[in-house]
Amino acid sequence: MNTAIIVAAGSGSRFGADRPKQFLELAGKPIIARTVLRFEASPVIDAIVVVSGAEFLDETKAILGRERVTKLRAVVAGGETRSESVHAGLNAVPEGTEIVAVHDGVRPLVSEDEIERTIRAAAEYGAACLTAQMTDTVKVVDGAYVVGTLDRRELRRALTPQAFRYEVLKEAYDNAKLGEAVTDECFLVEESGTKVLSVAGSQRNIKITTPDDLLIAEALFRAGKDE
Ligand code: C5P
Repeated sequence: MNTAIIVAAGSGSRFGADRPKQFLELAGKPIIARTVLRFEASPVIDAIVVVSGAEFLDETKAILGRERVTKLRAVVAGGETRSESVHAGLNAVPEGTEIVAVHDGVRPLVSEDEIERTIRAAAEYGAACLTAQMTDTVKVVDGAYVVGTLDRRELRRALTPQAFRYEVLKEAYDNAKLGEAVTDECFLVEESGTKVLSVAGSQRNIKITTPDDLLIAEALFRAGKDE
């Protein structure tokens, strides 16, 4: 069984709205519904666990109930940091889960093809991370000064989903010290010594973090053929 953990327990403080951004609308539906529906439609996903803020559990369940998400197995409360929220989701996956795909609740533009290729890579290699090429040159700064330039040919942006054999992710999480510095799952799995396959993802698979991102996502969504 392949299970998606969709984390949506962030406060959205960088967005500046009075509600977490996952509840704002994208093309007429809450962002979290848009994201979950991508996994509902995926033929390689059997079960979905959604992690939400403790005070938004009922609202999240109501939204997903309206969308008749048949693969939904649990909606659980998240933690202070993203990694704690993932850990809560991991503890709620159904028995018999072989592959876990962790996905940001605020990446509603993920494609079915990206989900499928990441899951298949994890089944074959144990761990897989969807990544995108860097288009900008990246500088290292110290205070006011640029002190270095990284070789962008070696760099990739980490997208989601990131997928793992269940025992690989469980072991990495159970042995890790979770906190702000853990901004994705692969980091913990890399630290545990397991090799992570890089799977080419799309620049369209953006994370909605600011109001501008929502405008871009609306445009991409409307331009897509999946509405
Ligand atoms: O904070 P960041 O942009 O990395 O958040 C990525 C995803 O992680 C978002 O979908 C957010 O809701 C989720 N998150 C969470 N629990 C937290 C912080 C973030 O589920 N404590």
